[in-house]
Formats: sequence, structure tokens, C-alpha cells
Amino acid sequence: MSAFSRFTPLVTSLPSTIPFVGPEAIERQRDRPIAARIGANESGFGPAPSVLSAMTEAAGGVWQYNDPENFELKKALAGHLGTKADNIAIGEGIDGLLGQIVRMVIEPGMRVITSLGGYPTFNFHVAGHGGRLVTVPYANDREDIDGLLAAVKREDAPLVYFANPDNPMGSWWDADSVVAFARALPETCLLILDEAYGETAPAGTIPPIGSLIDMPNVIRTRTFSKAYGLAGARVGYVISTPGTAQAFDKIRNHFGMNRIGTAAAIAALSDTGYLAEVLERIAASRGRIADIAVSNGLTPLPSATNFVTIDCGKDAVFARAIVDRLMADHGIFIRMPGVAPLNRCIRISTGPEADMALLEEALPKVLEKLGRP
Ligand SMILES: Cc1ncc(COP(=O)(O)O)c(C=O)c1O
Repeated sequence: MSAFSRFTPLVTSLPSTIPFVGPEAIERQRDRPIAARIGANESGFGPAPSVLSAMTEAAGGVWQYNDPENFELKKALAGHLGTKADNIAIGEGIDGLLGQIVRMVIEPGMRVITSLGGYPTFNFHVAGHGGRLVTVPYANDREDIDGLLAAVKREDAPLVYFANPDNPMGSWWDADSVVAFARALPETCLLILDEAYGETAPAGTIPPIGSLIDMPNVIRTRTFSKAYGLAGARVGYVISTPGTAQAFDKIRNHFGMNRIGTAAAIAALSDTGYLAEVLERIAASRGRIADIAVSNGLTPLPSATNFVTIDCGKDAVFARAIVDRLMADHGIFIRMPGVAPLNRCIRISTGPEADMALLEEALPKVLEKLGRP
């Protein structure tokens, strides 16, 4: 395939990458719709009815660009978090913000620290800016904060990524440990503290806003994609010091936010009743997935997220076969961690009871076919 000849050497050297194959691509390959979409850690419970009304209302104004300063959303978030609007930057989901952060910090060849098997979209952005990933293995299926800290110091790294709670394992550290980790980092290293699953975590997991807000080298990333059920709206935000948050203005896509999505996020913040209801449903669904796993002889791992990671008791080939058979025979979309030893597991997103019932029916059949662990 011929391509333009003067792409940068970096872009020319990179493979064309898709960090995750989307369920739509799977549907196209199969030429059939998916029966249960419980693989991408979306919220099958959907957004609040009040949010859908706000989106409908905003739709008529979609001919207008969105406010490039995102003033109303920042104001709403500042009220929600108890910060100033200056502490916040808005972006096209955490994924978009991760790309901006990497762009602000990384020059080709610089070392970047993350966990081996951690969130792959971050790695994708690092590669895209010529950074060199240095990975720290998980310890007991949890990110190894001591190991991450040691790697930062050893490599004199300017950037470290740490998700709390974590994807793909669903594990978490308590707030005190996270704060101690952040405070132990050299000031020359920027911490991305990815709190995509902050809403679903148990009390005491997410450090209070005030505990890190004075640190210019800490950026907390949050999203409306998970508990708020707005993955397709692409709204995320960062919390940091005003100086660090304002640096995004130098490189962000000022008109990149979707007007309808922004209206949805503002409405979602004010519907606290719906959020509480969804959090209960997520917790119940986590229990349901765990029960299904146990009754099939598999081991669910504790989860602070909207998914449950399940140890299938064998190797990656076995876990992959479960993922593939669930899709091929039953149209059930789940995923699995990509790297050993995490890839002995499968990962199932919480969702409505109809999806859980399909899983409950299909999993024993799949395991029967494959030979139980
Ligand atoms: C740890 C983590 N960070 C970020 C994201 C993506 O968030 P967003 O939809 O805001 O880009 C995900 C989604 O799965 C995730 O698991």
C-alpha cells in the first residue's frame, strides 16, 4: 500500500495500531449483531433519563460550535469537586487527554513508566510520541506502586501512569497509599493518576481532592464514560494545579468538545439520584458475575470497577478460547488482559440482567466444550 513519502520518521516507523478491536468490527466480521455487549466497560445501564432530555434539548443547537472555554462544564465540575474552575481541563475522554499529556511531556527517546499489562491506550500514545515504555510487572494482580516508584527513580523518568482502580485487573490501592506514592515521586516526574473508575470504587480508595491539589506534577484523569454511562459522548477531564491545567490550552483542540456531549455531562453531574442508583446496579451486577464465575469453578477477583476480572485457572490460550467461544457460539462480547500472567483471566463488564442471564446460560456450555479448568 503506498503512503505519503514525507511522514515523520517516527510515524513511518510505527505499525498501524488499534489498541482495542471494537465490538462494531467484530459485528462486521461476524455479519451478525452482538447479543450481550459486556466487554468494553461501558455502562449498559445507560445515562440518566434527565441526561437524555438535556441531550435532546441541546441537539437543536448543534449547528453552533461548543464554547471553546468549556466554561459551564468547568463551573459545574468545580462545584461538584470543591475546586476552582482553574484546576480543571476538559478533553475528549481520558483517552484524548492522555494523548495531550504525553505530547506535553514526552520527546522521542524519553522513558515513560507504566505497569506491564496496564491500560494499552496510554502505551499507544507514548509510542506515537516516540517515548520508550519501561514496564513494571503487577504484584499479586495489583499495580506495584513501590516498583513504579523505583522505576521512576532509576530511569529519571518524566512521566508515570498509574490507574486507581485499575483496568484490566479491577484492583485498587487505598487513598493513603496513593497519596504517599504521589508525594514520594520526584517533582520532575509527572504522575497521571487515572481515576476512570473512581465512582465505582469503595470508600477510602480515591484520595480527597485537597490531598493532591497542590502538586503541579500530579494530573488526575476522570471520565463520564463509565458510571455516568456516556462513553459515546467522549467527555473527560483532568484535575491539577491551575498552572498544569492551563498548559492544556497550549495544545488542546479548542473546538474539540461535542456540544451535545458537554450538555450531557453537565446534566449528569446534577442527577445524583440516578448515579447512586446505577452504582447500586453495578455493585449488584459485579456480585452476579462473581456468582456465575464461582458456579462454573472459576475465581472472580475483587473489583472496584464496573467490570469483574476472572481467573480462569489455566493459561492465556484457555482464557482466549473462552473469550472466542462466548462470541462465536453465543454472541457475547467480553475481553481479557493482553499480557502474562494477567492473561490467564477474562474480563466481563457489568450490565443489565438480560446480559447476565445470557452469560449465565452460555458460560457452562463454553466450559463444557473446552474442558473445565
Ligand atoms: C483505566 C482507563 N482509563 C481511561 C479509559 C477511557 O476513558 P474515556 O472513555 O474517557 O476515554 C478507560 C476505558 O476503558 C480505562 O479503563
